[in-house]
Amino acid sequence: MSHPFRSLIAACMVILAANLPSRIQADDSTVHRVVGVAGCTAASCHGGKSLTGGEASAWLTRDAVHRRAYDVLFNETSVRMTKQLGLKAAHTEARCLACHSTETAHPSGAKGERFAVEFGVGCESCHGAAGSWVSRHTDRSWRTLTAAQKQELGFHDLKPASARAEKCAECHVGSPRATVDHDLIAAGHPRLTFEMSAYHTLLPKHWDATAESRRDPAQELRLWAVGHAASAKAMSDIAAARAKSALANGAKQVTPDLAEFDCHACHHDLAEPTRGRPTLSSPLGSPRWGSWTIAPARFAARHSQSAFGQDGSAAETALSKLINLMNQSRIGTTPADVLLATSRQTSRDLAEWSRALEFASVDPAQSSQLLHRLLAAESDREWLPTWDGQVQRYLAVVTVAQSSLRVTGREPFHSAGRAETLANLRQQLRYPPHYNSPLGFRSSDIDPLWHDLRKTSGN
Ligand code: HEC
Ligand code: HEC
Ligand code: HEC
Ligand code: HEC
Repeated sequence: MSHPFRSLIAACMVILAANLPSRIQADDSTVHRVVGVAGCTAASCHGGKSLTGGEASAWLTRDAVHRRAYDVLFNETSVRMTKQLGLKAAHTEARCLACHSTETAHPSGAKGERFAVEFGVGCESCHGAAGSWVSRHTDRSWRTLTAAQKQELGFHDLKPASARAEKCAECHVGSPRATVDHDLIAAGHPRLTFEMSAYHTLLPKHWDATAESRRDPAQELRLWAVGHAASAKAMSDIAAARAKSALANGAKQVTPDLAEFDCHACHHDLAEPTRGRPTLSSPLGSPRWGSWTIAPARFAARHSQSAFGQDGSAAETALSKLINLMNQSRIGTTPADVLLATSRQTSRDLAEWSRALEFASVDPAQSSQLLHRLLAAESDREWLPTWDGQVQRYLAVVTVAQSSLRVTGREPFHSAGRAETLANLRQQLRYPPHYNSPLGFRSSDIDPLWHDLRKTSGN
């Protein structure tokens, strides 16, 4: 498909070079209009040629995934989904636009004249609807405002790792406003398998990321932990919202969405039924909840004190309570009042723990402890034997190894064969295209590979 707005982008850059953002009055203290990408791209603003001052140019040329997010609503998958779901068209569907554009960065959808939905996930999707701050943030006085004052104007400060992770999780995990539920997945939407450290690494940067990692050599590891806190918090927020609306409708029980459970408990490879399922067995009707999005946070919280020197016990206790509540009730019978109280508490404890991780100083000895825990077979028997658990474990091991190399200058694995072992693991854990379950995967098949890594990790 050709992109009709390619030329639009070029045109905007030219027009805006001579056209500074106009003054926009704040509508009121809580309502902020979306200005649109074109409001940020002036050459004298973020449309310059160098990286600092050229963030918009960098974003336009580098971050294709987010710029393209609206385009994909016209692709074959979207068309098929639209048909299956009985929708008119994906690109006019508020539900899709919530994550594939900046359309709803403002809950009421108030937009400036320069807003163009074609820019997909634009500046304000991440940095906040700019109607009330676009003119002020060019003033000297902007620097004197506190983060809370900026937030009040609608500006999200993404420098703190926890705030950044929460922003990504809004779309990549979901929020009470929009989720990718089992209906969407069954109609063809990819399953959301967000992991902050990996996604942050993959995201082409439009800011000075080198300076950032110089300031915080353990950034990846910090992002790994706060990313899991943010993913779990997103799930907990969704559970709370669902419980609240059930209670408001006079219902006593809540039905969570199937997509929140371990897919492989229900879906397994039909071509090879004798090979067993890529997950643990669980009681009929009670598949494991949050095997991708929640369980890793519990693992990180459990080892938070030893790995980050920050107490994670409140978060761990709250998460365990929430997980047990969901796992112990058959789908559709979770008591709404208990769920509401439990998930609210979990969200609060996760937010607090995540902010504490912001200040954690990660030293190499601590991260090697984490590596040790990750590689230990007995670490978390409820989580690791699932495919979800194994993939998250792989991503975590890679993150710890990279951080450790950056912080100490030394490889944590002392073996020439470790690259091969890691590549082998990656291969074994791959999701074959067009399959709903990893073909013939059994956790016990890859145990020897973990064992090899353990032997070479120097622990
Ligand atoms: C909660 C946010 C959210 C909602 C709601 C949502 N999406 Fe997505 N969608 C995503 C994310 C995030 C990805 C990227 C997944 C990844 O690669 O990790 C994605 C990926 C896709 C893809 C695959 C893109 C490709 O490159 O082929 C299609 C197609 C798609 N979405 C269509 C839709 C349609 C149609 C709707 C509405 C019916 C919709 N989405 C609703 C977040 C969302
Ligand atoms: C997917 C989310 C996302 C989108 C979309 C996005 N940004 Fe960013 N941006 C970030 C993150 C994360 C950072 C790093 C944290 C920081 O420096 O605030 C950042 C950093 C920046 C910075 C550097 C701030 C500093 O003080 O160093 C500027 C300026 C900026 N972005 C402008 C833009 C503009 C203009 C657009 C649109 C053309 C845009 N961003 C789109 C996430 C995003
Ligand atoms: C407003 C919603 C939204 C926000 C906020 C957002 N994303 Fe995305 N992101 C998407 C959608 C939708 C896609 C898929 C678009 C496509 O296929 O072109 C995507 C795609 C990606 C991809 C490519 C994934 C792949 O499979 O190749 C990466 C990496 C990514 N996002 C990282 C991030 C990070 C890191 C943040 C936070 C700094 C973030 N995103 C914030 C909606 C969002
Ligand atoms: C509690 C059992 C259960 C869980 C958990 C579950 N599904 Fe399903 N899934 C079903 C059933 C039953 C159907 C057929 C009815 C339908 O389409 O909703 C289905 C249909 C589907 C389909 C469309 C039909 C097909 O096989 O192509 C896809 C794709 C799918 N699920 C993917 C997933 C993914 C990915 C997850 C995890 C995020 C998941 N499911 C979790 C029971 C489940």
